[in-house]
Amino acid sequence: MLTSIEIPKKCHECRMKQDRIKWNEKYRKESFPTEVASVVKNFYHLAPGKKALDIAAGNGRNAVFLSQKGFSVDAVDISEVGFIEFTSRFPNINAICADLDQFEIATGHYDLILNVKFLNRRLFPYIQEGLKPGGVVIFHTLLGSKSDKRTPEHCRDYLLRTNELLHAFLAMRIIYYREAEDPEMKNLDEMATLVAVKQ
Ligand SMILES: C[S@@+](CC[C@H](N)C(=O)[O-])C[C@H]1O[C@@H](n2cnc3c(N)ncnc32)[C@H](O)[C@@H]1O
Repeated sequence: MLTSIEIPKKCHECRMKQDRIKWNEKYRKESFPTEVASVVKNFYHLAPGKKALDIAAGNGRNAVFLSQKGFSVDAVDISEVGFIEFTSRFPNINAICADLDQFEIATGHYDLILNVKFLNRRLFPYIQEGLKPGGVVIFHTLLGSKSDKRTPEHCRDYLLRTNELLHAFLAMRIIYYREAEDPEMKNLDEMATLVAVKQ
């Protein structure tokens, strides 16, 4: 007798390939902001040194800004199409095309880590370990509270819950935390923003 139906799990490699195809298509067809995110502009100077990691760097708008401020930047993203924008022009940006579901952040390596408009909860502890003492994380990404009403259930994994980010980084010294509509987003989506220093 058949008691349960096994639904095969989508293999990790297939999902990664799909993500890469999806984002490559987006970067080919859509236009994305090229201005540095305000939160990066406002807080990057708190970093104690010039070694940075940009998580899900996209078209590189934030990595380029940091490189122009003298940082050496490891910029990680799954889409190589977004990277084309900047890799050749900025020798102090090290573009790494990788899946952040698997990527290992070097321990105690960075003065500044950016995570803008991307969420992978697996990375929360690795971001903290990846910073040098006194290193700074700037995290800015979508909140679920308002978007939930129009967001399909499976997309909620990519949205923060209220105060979730704050709790995840409580071991650090919190410099700034805010949950608010973001004027840079077309739909005025709510974003959570956190700036914190490793003690
Ligand atoms: C909304 S964009 C944000 C880009 C950039 N941080 C910015 O603020 O402009 C999200 C980025 O996450 C990248 N991404 C999505 N899934 C990924 C994964 N599994 N590993 C690495 N990058 C991924 C996409 O390619 C895309 O560039």
